[in-house]
Amino acid sequence: MFRGEKIQLGAVQREYLPKYVEWLNDWEVARFLNPGVAAPFNLEDETAWFENRNKSKDNYVFAILTLEGKLIGNCGLHRVDLKNRSAVFGIFIGDKEYWGKGYGTDATRTLLRFAFAELGLNRIELEVYAFNPRAIRAYEKAGFRRDGVHRQGLYREGKFHDEYIMCILREEWQAGG
Ligand SMILES: CC(C)(COP(=O)(O)OP(=O)(O)OC[C@H]1O[C@@H](n2cnc3c(N)ncnc32)[C@H](O)[C@@H]1OP(=O)(O)O)[C@@H](O)C(=O)NCCC(=O)NCCS
Repeated sequence: MFRGEKIQLGAVQREYLPKYVEWLNDWEVARFLNPGVAAPFNLEDETAWFENRNKSKDNYVFAILTLEGKLIGNCGLHRVDLKNRSAVFGIFIGDKEYWGKGYGTDATRTLLRFAFAELGLNRIELEVYAFNPRAIRAYEKAGFRRDGVHRQGLYREGKFHDEYIMCILREEWQAGG
């Protein structure tokens, strides 16, 4: 269990899966996530993901819980690359009551500590849609900077949207983000 100031990152438990299915089928949450996740989703799909999650060694997934133990979301590192010491970061807080209150920034910071201080990684990257200023701001607060843009990389809700690539390097994290 990794603790931040407002959250703890714990193992994903089977009993959490129905909540994940509910959240990932909520378009207000899913519209910010990658297209694979934005498709309708059922408990069988989520259970298959759960059962396969440790088969590849390049993923670390965590449940995001409040310090009191309430499940509010999920985050993880994907495509962990031990040669280049890099990974891709992803997060969602599914319980919308918890948006905009610092939980996402704290979860991001806590996962970065795991990535740099435990896994010894050097570079963490993410992709975020230009229409998601809340996420962009949370990532900036955690120390990410914009590396580039996939112009009109996403088609969603009848329009093309830019996707920003953001990244934080180990030396930036060590310097305080
Ligand atoms: C993205 C997400 C993880 C951020 O977590 P969070 O707990 O809501 O974010 P925080 O409260 O830590 O930080 C949000 C910041 O954005 C700011 N913000 C919120 N709405 C904003 C807006 N419309 N424009 C600009 N800034 C905004 C907040 O004021 C806060 O900054 P501040 O502390 O300087 O005031 C969470 O909102 C979420 O899961 N959203 C749905 C799924 C998603 O977008 N996932 C990320 C996909 S890349």
